Amino acid sequence: MRRKLVVGNWKMHGTLASNAELLAGLRAAEPFVCEAAVCAPFPYLASCVLALQGSHIALGAQDCSAHEQGAYTGEVSVAMLADIGCRYVIVGHSERRAYHGETDQLVADKAKAVVAKGLVPIVCVGETLAEREAGHTAEVVKRQLSAVIHTLGHCMPQAVVAYEPVWAIGTGKTASPEQAQEVHALLRAQLRAATSHADQMRLLYGGSVKADNAASLFAQADIDGGLIGGASLKAADFTAICRAAL
Ligand code: 13P
Repeated sequence: MRRKLVVGNWKMHGTLASNAELLAGLRAAEPFVCEAAVCAPFPYLASCVLALQGSHIALGAQDCSAHEQGAYTGEVSVAMLADIGCRYVIVGHSERRAYHGETDQLVADKAKAVVAKGLVPIVCVGETLAEREAGHTAEVVKRQLSAVIHTLGHCMPQAVVAYEPVWAIGTGKTASPEQAQEVHALLRAQLRAATSHADQMRLLYGGSVKADNAASLFAQADIDGGLIGGASLKAADFTAICRAAL
């Protein structure tokens, strides 16, 4: 039985004060049946660690460098994230692929850097609207996942995979539970061909998950939780989504 995982991706939002209020709200609502985590912007990670002391809510980052250390101005290493207490690192979010030119191989290299330090990469895959309409959804997500499978090798089971259709992110258009399940089943089959641990791996859905659609998405056979953007910024909304993950 896979324990569900619900992760808040705060993206580039928040202040010290609003983060403190949000985390206090989440802590007041604990415990959850699912595992819950929040991925905060880099400057706030250290204060989030303090705010989450004694809580079961895990902390994650939204990106990392593929390099271990060195002259990479502006980059943040996985070792630094591990050092301050992060457990998760999102890699290959579609916003990074689209706005920062991240390739399938760079995403895979980042996932490898995360695993090397004992943290858990949340590897995002997903098709654009044009790709879906052209009938290329399966081909695109398989290509994105394949790079990670080949680069991580026997470490692949340590990763979490998030299916985030680009057309559903921040648009209010959610994939229907059936549409999401169809892709999750494809990804699970691809993982089964690569590792005997595929059935223990968690596959998250992301893209306009809200309190009122979370339960039907999470009820699908291969959906093991969610990666939540906008609705993770309000304690009541994120709490309701966590409660829908049983
Ligand atoms: P929204 O929940 O705001 O659509 O964002 C999804 C997402 O990109 C999470 O990583």
